[in-house]
Amino acid sequence: MWKIGNVEIDNRVVLAPMAGICNSAYRKIVKEMGCGLIYAEMVSDKAICYDNKKTIDMLYMEDVERPIAQQIFGSDVDSFVEAAKYIEKEMRPDIIDINMGCPVPKVALRAQAGSALLKNPSKVKEIVKAVVNAVKCPVTVKIRSGWDSNHINAVEIAKICEEAGASAITVHGRTRSQGYSGKADWNIIRDVKNSVKIPVIGNGDVTSPEKAKEMLDFTGCDAVMIGRAALGNPWLIRNTVLYLEGKPYMLPTTNDKIDMCIKHLKMLSDLKSEKQAVLEIRSHVGWYLKGVKGSNDIKNKIYKMTKICDILQVLEEFKEELYEEEKCL
Ligand SMILES: Cc1cc2nc3c(=O)[nH]c(=O)nc-3n(C[C@H](O)[C@H](O)[C@H](O)COP(=O)(O)O)c2cc1C
Repeated sequence: MWKIGNVEIDNRVVLAPMAGICNSAYRKIVKEMGCGLIYAEMVSDKAICYDNKKTIDMLYMEDVERPIAQQIFGSDVDSFVEAAKYIEKEMRPDIIDINMGCPVPKVALRAQAGSALLKNPSKVKEIVKAVVNAVKCPVTVKIRSGWDSNHINAVEIAKICEEAGASAITVHGRTRSQGYSGKADWNIIRDVKNSVKIPVIGNGDVTSPEKAKEMLDFTGCDAVMIGRAALGNPWLIRNTVLYLEGKPYMLPTTNDKIDMCIKHLKMLSDLKSEKQAVLEIRSHVGWYLKGVKGSNDIKNKIYKMTKICDILQVLEEFKEELYEEEKCL
């Protein structure tokens, strides 16, 4: 058990915020796998202030997902404060997180938000202080190692965030200019951990339970945040929790993967319009069935489908096919 502010967290495995993915459906799946802390996908401060319906809908959360952090991105102190207050009142997340890592041009270049804030330490201080003062729940900040290889300043930024009242910091060991390429630098996570007293969550390239332990041991960080490797593989969360407890773990079977596609689609259909659920499940089916023998045809069929019932039927038939094949062996 560890804590962020007054929020108690059962284990050291954290789900990364991932835009377009970490909605309530996916989060509940990951929570069932025993995830200690979940970060919801980022929302725009301005969109909240303008009462944008699509963004407000993104705040939907169920109590079973707790403890949960809601992430906000933006660049203007007043909008950040207004959005944080709204989110605390309406959604009641356990934690509010400030995004200082997003590299996409729309956010970092056009809006000067996300990772662009790393270039402006005084603004970092202003934003964190203002949000901390505006809400009662703990505030955390997610940063990258720096803007580019000539401007690695995660330690400086982390110290500023701590001084401004942040309750924890997540460090993704890549610069903005790296995007998602290259290797995450775990040295910078270790340096931040050695420079602040608040909990540090390490992030970047945790792809297996063993890697999670390696990161914890190498950096001394309080918890590991897992992103891309959990796409199509929520079992990684369960297995990492087990491995860190010194317990054995099992990889999912093909049957487990197809069943999870079906479950995920049904959960998405409860949350979204048919059109949106179909669009979203296409990517997830690709991830869940990656490397599964005979799945390419199934994926191609599903990519062309527009109805949930048709996709469910194809998945059920695929399961049946594999079952019959196994019986013949
Ligand atoms: C599809 C996708 C969406 C993401 N969206 C967000 C986001 O909304 N907020 C954020 O702070 N990071 C976001 N990230 C970055 C991840 O949270 C994480 O920092 C990054 O993927 C590195 O961790 P990993 O190596 O475990 O994937 C996103 C990453 C991906 C792949």
